[in-house]
Amino acid sequence: MDKPEFTRAMVSQTALELLMGDITQQDTDAIVNAANSSLLGGGGVDGAIHRAAGPQLLEETRTLGGCQTGDAKLTRGYRLKARYVIHAVGPIYRAGDESVAWLLASAYRRSLEVAAEHGLQSVAFPSISTGAYGYPVELAAPVALEAVHEALSAPTPVKLVRFVLFNPPTLRAFSQALAALAQRHPDVQPIS
Ligand code: APR
Repeated sequence: MDKPEFTRAMVSQTALELLMGDITQQDTDAIVNAANSSLLGGGGVDGAIHRAAGPQLLEETRTLGGCQTGDAKLTRGYRLKARYVIHAVGPIYRAGDESVAWLLASAYRRSLEVAAEHGLQSVAFPSISTGAYGYPVELAAPVALEAVHEALSAPTPVKLVRFVLFNPPTLRAFSQALAALAQRHPDVQPIS
């Protein structure tokens, strides 16, 4: 299988990169958790991050009183390489429900707002909502990249946004969406 051609770009002053890997291994300032509104853990990304961070993460998330869909909240990273975890809650996909795209975009936008509020310079995202929440990745990837592009078009301390994708089809969907984003926005400049 050929390697997707488009995996890195500059958006204004921020580097945006796509790679295949495990979000819990990223050494960015923050990693984003694909959480649920209880913030009390789960499977997938949520389970992997809680396992890697250790029990203190749940102790802290218990104090947060949950998180609305489309919103994001910050905790420390404990045993993770990343200093912080940004818990973002994506929507459960429902075909024909237009609000899911807005809520998914909001989860990405709010995560970058929280990162900027804390002066963080690097953030790693998983593909939010495209696992247990059933959001088709071909529909989610353009929404995710458009939201990140919009958030990075304003001044921000965030200089690196990394999408850490867990399998080839997801990486391919994001790579195609990044190529399409560059077609739409001249400020998205490919970097080899
Ligand atoms: N690193 C990076 N990506 C991962 C990892 C990992 N370690 N594990 C899974 N993924 C990928 C999945 O393959 C999918 O593409 O992350 C994407 C999101 O999948 P989920 O973790 O299922 O998240 P989501 O679809 O947002 O569903 C959230 O699942 O785990 C529960 O508590 C969570 O209720 C919430 C729901």
